[in-house]
Amino acid sequence: MKILITGATGLVGSELVKLLLKNKHTIHYLTTSASKIEDKPNIKGFFWNPQSGKIDESCIYGVDAIVHLAGANIAKRWTNAYKQEIIESRTLSSELLFNLLRKTPNQVKQIVAASGTAIYPESFNQVFDETTTQTEDSFLSNVVKKWEASVNTFNVLGIKVCKLRTGIVLSDKGGALPEMVKPIKFGFGSAMGSGKQMQSWIHIEDLIAMYNFALVNQLEGIYNAVSPNPVSNATLTKTIAKVIKKPLWLPNIPEFIMKLILGEMAYLLFSSKNLSAEKIKTAGFQFHFPHLEKALYNLYQ
Ligand SMILES: NC(=O)c1ccc[n+]([C@@H]2O[C@H](COP(=O)([O-])OP(=O)(O)OC[C@H]3O[C@@H](n4cnc5c(N)ncnc54)[C@H](OP(=O)(O)O)[C@@H]3O)[C@@H](O)[C@H]2O)c1
Repeated sequence: MKILITGATGLVGSELVKLLLKNKHTIHYLTTSASKIEDKPNIKGFFWNPQSGKIDESCIYGVDAIVHLAGANIAKRWTNAYKQEIIESRTLSSELLFNLLRKTPNQVKQIVAASGTAIYPESFNQVFDETTTQTEDSFLSNVVKKWEASVNTFNVLGIKVCKLRTGIVLSDKGGALPEMVKPIKFGFGSAMGSGKQMQSWIHIEDLIAMYNFALVNQLEGIYNAVSPNPVSNATLTKTIAKVIKKPLWLPNIPEFIMKLILGEMAYLLFSSKNLSAEKIKTAGFQFHFPHLEKALYNLYQ
């Protein structure tokens, strides 16, 4: 297959590219940085700028499927201007791809897009699956609604749309985990608030295998990209400390302190998402890292 990837240079994208090349696929990718463009027999980069509507149209030639990962990182201070960028980097990029496909003859049959879990209601005990129609009213939830709506439009073109609502991606190379490990490593780690908020997580290896699974099986619809065993923030903190062999001695950090430091972005630490992985399992996907402790040992030993 020839696969066009957006956001291919990021944490998830760079690992996904390695797996897809290993599986003998050909990769085209779109990047907003001219310096990240390379041109090799099996992988070729193309420039785009969703903000200004620029795209190298030859990126679509011969492409069978699109993986849409692009989006401004949410772990930066949520100023009004940056909030706008978080939304537009996702919606304008979808629109640019959609318009390219609409006006250019192509053979694209499927788009597999990243999405988020923020759309789900806050929950400690109740487990939510993809059939729920309840949503949360928060900035990030509204980002996800707009993001998914922008991807759903591809259906009009007869293209299958698959959305992977992704939990906290566990990788030692970036994202949330190294930020959680750092204070624990230096002896200043502690759980956040009550520590009872649920964290739906996924090992990066399982996530990229899930993207591959979605492509190979031509999946359509929404799938939660989370491990089958979400944990509380307290358990996550304790398990990291156990795996890296560091003691935890500080009391939990109160929510108001983190709100003072991080502003509205503290949402990322205190929101509670308890999500089901049953749908993707029923589709035949097998997790390599269904349990947190083994996932962390794999990354940190
Ligand atoms: N990591 C997680 O825990 C997690 C959890 C849930 C959902 N997700 C979602 O999954 C996707 C991939 O995650 P990731 O962790 O790999 O993200 P990442 O490391 O931040 O990479 C995202 C990529 O998007 C592109 N990008 C950044 N700003 C952009 C902008 N303004 N316009 C267009 N493209 C832009 C960049 O590629 P170029 O520089 O090459 O343009 C970047 O490499 C993201 O959409 C993310 O929101 C991630």
